[in-house]
Amino acid sequence: MRKRATEYGPLSIYDPIYLGIDENACPVDITLIYKNLLTAGEPGAGKSGALNNLVAHAALASDCRLWLMDGKRVELGLWRDRAEVFVGSSLDDAIDRLRELQAEMDSRYDQLDGWKLRKISRGDGNHPIMLVIDELAYYSATAGDKRTRETFSLLLRDVIARGRAAGIIVVAATQRPSADIIPTSLRDLFGYRLAFRCTTETSSDIVLGHGWHSRGFDASQIDPTTPGVGLLLAEGGIPRRMRCAYLSDVEISRIAGHPDSGSAA
Ligand SMILES: Nc1ncnc2c1ncn2[C@@H]1O[C@H](COP(=O)(O)OP(=O)(O)OP(=O)(O)O)[C@@H](O)[C@H]1O
Ligand SMILES: [Mg+2]
Repeated sequence: MRKRATEYGPLSIYDPIYLGIDENACPVDITLIYKNLLTAGEPGAGKSGALNNLVAHAALASDCRLWLMDGKRVELGLWRDRAEVFVGSSLDDAIDRLRELQAEMDSRYDQLDGWKLRKISRGDGNHPIMLVIDELAYYSATAGDKRTRETFSLLLRDVIARGRAAGIIVVAATQRPSADIIPTSLRDLFGYRLAFRCTTETSSDIVLGHGWHSRGFDASQIDPTTPGVGLLLAEGGIPRRMRCAYLSDVEISRIAGHPDSGSAA
């Protein structure tokens, strides 16, 4: 994280979030409030590294509630104590939590309706909630049975589609950028898309959007020896090649406030 973030008092989730640097070594900051972010790429490409930057900002923000879902448990596990909700490998828990989030979203819309406002804003009583899902496909295509996976996918789609104005930010990562995991209708709900190295140009297009590879933005061309390098597409723009910042386990533990940071014993 940039020093600016921690030196000058608490962060806000309404502030830009530092994600890394671009090809000209310019900082890449993204503003996630009222937006969602999808990231995908092959194993080891840098997805969890990217997510940890976003989670670090949210954990340090004084106005953000952090909800984490991590089928592997260790990718986001260092933030467990800082999170309001942490779901591991249980699909049933994930579904229960999504129902809770959906109910929270609906009650915020009731409130906004009553206040004659269109969206929550900085300083009002409702703190944004950042839901981070590392390995989306684990919940939507691997765990449980067909019925429960569909329930998960429907709930998640609703939260992504309707949550933005209620201050619900969804950040999701998947190793499998295929049409069954990320159908176009779902992909298009993500204002930010970050494609790390993919195996084919088709999977690169599934993350970024149809046709980008033929315009020279192809994540399958990323060198496999450069994890953390990806193409970031922000709503309405063109993909920007960048390298994500990377927090070590020790740094994460320090930010998360663990006394015994980094000890494997
Ligand atoms: N931005 C980065 N800068 C430098 N090294 C990185 C960066 N991101 C990732 N790496 C290196 O690559 C390794 C794999 O990264 P990461 O765990 O983020 O991959 P992943 O895409 O989440 O993989 P998986 O799909 O297996 O979970 C890290 O352990 C780290 O060594
Ligand atoms: Mg990972």
